[in-house]
Amino acid sequence: MVESWATFGVDLHLDRSGPGLRRGLTEALREAVRGGRLAPGTRLPSTRSLAADLGVARNTVAEVYADLIAEGWLAARQGSGTRVADRTPATPERRRAPHPRERTRPAYDLVPGTPELASFPRTHWLRAARRALAAAPDQALGYGDLRGRVELRTALAGYLSRARGVHADPDRIVVCAGFLGGLGVLAELLRRRGGDTVAVESYGLPHHRRLLENAGCATPPLPFDDRGTLPPGGRAAADAVLLTPSHQFPLGLPLLPERRTALIEWARRTGGLVLEDDYDGEFRYDRQPVGALQGLDPDRVVYLGTASKSLAPALRLGWMVLPPALVEEAMDAMAGRAPGVLDQLTLAAFLSSGDYDRHVRSARLRYRRRRDALVAALAERAPGVRVSGIAAGLHAVLELPPGTERQTIRAAAWHGLAVHGLSVFRHPEAALPPRDALVVGYGTPPDHAWAGALDALCRALP
Ligand SMILES: Cc1ncc(COP(=O)(O)O)c(C=O)c1O
Repeated sequence: MVESWATFGVDLHLDRSGPGLRRGLTEALREAVRGGRLAPGTRLPSTRSLAADLGVARNTVAEVYADLIAEGWLAARQGSGTRVADRTPATPERRRAPHPRERTRPAYDLVPGTPELASFPRTHWLRAARRALAAAPDQALGYGDLRGRVELRTALAGYLSRARGVHADPDRIVVCAGFLGGLGVLAELLRRRGGDTVAVESYGLPHHRRLLENAGCATPPLPFDDRGTLPPGGRAAADAVLLTPSHQFPLGLPLLPERRTALIEWARRTGGLVLEDDYDGEFRYDRQPVGALQGLDPDRVVYLGTASKSLAPALRLGWMVLPPALVEEAMDAMAGRAPGVLDQLTLAAFLSSGDYDRHVRSARLRYRRRRDALVAALAERAPGVRVSGIAAGLHAVLELPPGTERQTIRAAAWHGLAVHGLSVFRHPEAALPPRDALVVGYGTPPDHAWAGALDALCRALP
């Protein structure tokens, strides 16, 4: 949630959730000094009073002050608190107070998660929407089937079996509001069946864990070794597991064949359920993508797909392919949660016309070029940094020298880049050796900004 605050003459636009809070506060203060609104020598409030003023943890403010002292914007003097440094790092923008929106937005966004929104196929989507609405019977505008429109489920069944090797009968597909919408439904279904534990990968998205925890599920980390994720220890360890077998998020490796088999064996032996998050299965650049895990046992695996990477997250269109025994229960939990019918019909028309395949093909080419450019630029300008993971998806993991993750993220912010460190995605209870890395989302910048983003990234790297 983004909130605005005015404190000691500085407008602070803060994302009050997760790592955005600290970054937002750092940027707001840095820009206030850079823009001259906090003059050299100005005394800043104590960490305690600023924290109370903003309603944030005192530690967060202390860390922000420490970062800005390290960068030379602030200075701490024994007995006289923290002040704006007398001589701050010179920048060309020093005399100009930037517009508040400029201050809060980094020049380049390399946070993983979003595709290139500028290339959303507006014209073809509009054409599909017009066609779909013209062809829809009046009854399509009623409440309808809780699984979603049959046109979409039929088109998805064809696409998923062809492109991802999924056993996908339209009857066992449920259309949901993105991956997250599906996960919420599955968490509820699991709770109703008496389950309360969904084991997750040692690295993953914190908001996926949070959603499960808010639904009342424990989310222990799955065991992990140098060959990847292992199944849980036994029935007691989990009722279900959530993982990204085709392209682990964020580490970027596929689940090894013997681990895929072991996972299915675990599910069969214990009656546990595997939740397969196939968030970017369309984007593999070096070879044909590995088929979905669901193909190995459609009765034990729930396949979850999404249009968030292939088209746009704002559509909130996703799909689950369920074991037949779970379809009725999933429908019960779906009431009031389905994406709008017009969008469902539009996606059905978009898939059936071949527009979806064409769009994915051209997006794949664009992202592949970006990844190649990233690898080549690093080899030339940052040879100490290695790209790990397979050539796939919309993000790459940049392995950094030990102990340099935090300073690299600070340097990146200095160069106008928003980027996450691997530590953001680490499960707090995972027994993992320390690992310093950046998770670079190369899908987000529009084409014209990509070269600038890459240059800024290379400058920030150790
Ligand atoms: C690992 C992972 N799963 C799923 C998703 C898609 O989520 P949703 O469909 O809710 O937008 C993403 C998108 O960033 C992702 O990174």
